[in-house]
Amino acid sequence: MTPAQDDHARLEQTAYRKFMDVVAGRRSCRRYDGTRPVPRELIEDCLEAARLAPSACNRQPWRFVVADDPQTVARIRTEARMPALVHPWWDEVPVFVALCARLDLVTHRVAPAVSGIPYYLIDAGIAGEHFVLAAESLGLGTCWIGWFRARAVARILDVPRRIRVLSLLTVGWPATDMEPRQQSRLPLDQIASWNRWNSTREGK
Ligand SMILES: Cc1cc2nc3c(=O)[nH]c(=O)nc-3n(C[C@H](O)[C@H](O)[C@H](O)COP(=O)(O)O)c2cc1C
Repeated sequence: MTPAQDDHARLEQTAYRKFMDVVAGRRSCRRYDGTRPVPRELIEDCLEAARLAPSACNRQPWRFVVADDPQTVARIRTEARMPALVHPWWDEVPVFVALCARLDLVTHRVAPAVSGIPYYLIDAGIAGEHFVLAAESLGLGTCWIGWFRARAVARILDVPRRIRVLSLLTVGWPATDMEPRQQSRLPLDQIASWNRWNSTREGK
């Protein structure tokens, strides 16, 4: 075994293994135990993980609004649902977290105008996934929600106009009869290549 392989083998047994247990264990949770409250301390642990996320120019544009009081949660369930994909399982969701981002940061307005890359979306996505993975490590279920009425959520949660609501995260204890992972992933050779773009994988 080369020293590099030896290092790799050692890492496999330690931090990387634990990290991958969390990453591979996470799946979108759409069945919650609606009777079991989620302690605020656990949500705060997830928020702390989100707080440590990297961001363009370290501007940290993300903002989170946690809805855990029953009236607010009930309003989100009814007023933020979109037609077509109605998410009936929302009825059991005990906590919604609105993932928001500041739109008024100069760096996040000027830099994308030059590069064409909307950094605040990248930043918020990273922070949101930190939250989700922390939740997984604590045994909580989550689901990203992109199909919802963002304006309704902004109204219900009093989010000012300079802040954009980007996504909802549902949070709660998974129901005991959760289904196994449904969604497969593309193999590595279809999503990554070394040193140049691999055109042969396109269309697969
Ligand atoms: C940005 C984003 C938006 C999503 N929107 C929804 C949604 O509106 N409703 C839903 O049930 N799942 C939603 N999902 C969850 C995806 O369907 C899910 O992550 C994907 O199918 C992979 O499954 P897994 O999370 O169980 O691995 C969303 C995920 C992301 C990242």
